[in-house]
Amino acid sequence: MSAQIIDGKTIAGQVRAEWKLRVDNLIEKGITPGLAVLIVGDDPASTIYVRNKIKACSNIGIYSEVHRFSGNASQDEVLDCIKKLNRNEKIHGILVQLPLPLHFKNDQVITSIATEKDVDGFHLYNVGALVTGNAIFSPCTPYGVMVMLEKNNVSIEGQHAVVVGRSNIVGKPMALMLLAQGATVTVCTSKTKNLASFTRNADILVVATGRAKMITAEMIKPGATVIDVGINRLPDGKLCGDVDFESAKEIAGYITPVPGGVGPMTITMLLCNTIIAAERVQTNIGQV
Ligand code: GUN
Repeated sequence: MSAQIIDGKTIAGQVRAEWKLRVDNLIEKGITPGLAVLIVGDDPASTIYVRNKIKACSNIGIYSEVHRFSGNASQDEVLDCIKKLNRNEKIHGILVQLPLPLHFKNDQVITSIATEKDVDGFHLYNVGALVTGNAIFSPCTPYGVMVMLEKNNVSIEGQHAVVVGRSNIVGKPMALMLLAQGATVTVCTSKTKNLASFTRNADILVVATGRAKMITAEMIKPGATVIDVGINRLPDGKLCGDVDFESAKEIAGYITPVPGGVGPMTITMLLCNTIIAAERVQTNIGQV
């Protein structure tokens, strides 16, 4: 039997429609949510991601601004910009597009963002909050995965979740968020010995390795929920995930396609985090 497809585009559309009402509500009260995006250098993928983030902001009614720096800008220039944005009342969320050039120290840049404006959830304080189960901002991609699971009524508590990938952006926060919801979590990497012996035991399998089609049908437990975070370009120009979709869909219970799966959710959750940041400001004003 063929798996049920988890359609990220449709879910992202539903979430954006729901959250647009919250934007309208804030605007009525005189607060327009604002997002600042910083991009250093001209990495083509980052340029496209940033363009899409700005477009998504505009569509939902969030004010946005982009601060562009050349690839040989100094870290201090970027830190100065973040300092000003931290004090700017029009800005509720600040995002530094990654990767940064090699002469930057990621942690120094990210920890210069005010924790209450860190809509990526990458600040060390916010990472700590996530570890203790009290997330302030959930990192956007794993947050999007959690929403996809919820919208498809995939139960998490007591289930065995296997995350393949250990990045700070996806793998690690994904494992923590599943753990917080009561899953039994195993974290693997693309180099894990006998990877299939782990993945075949997964009720929920999340793959974020950046290796095209590395998870094949034989590595999947029949009926499992398979979430593919990967996006890879094949030599023929086509996009594919880290899961071999064609074979995997014959064995999985639920599966996300690439493109049209997790991708549309990441930007959606960035919008949600920016709206949450603005709502918190409004609540604080209300309390004064
Ligand atoms: N680069 C790839 N994914 C992300 C993300 O979620 N946030 C930021 N800031 N940079 C990224």
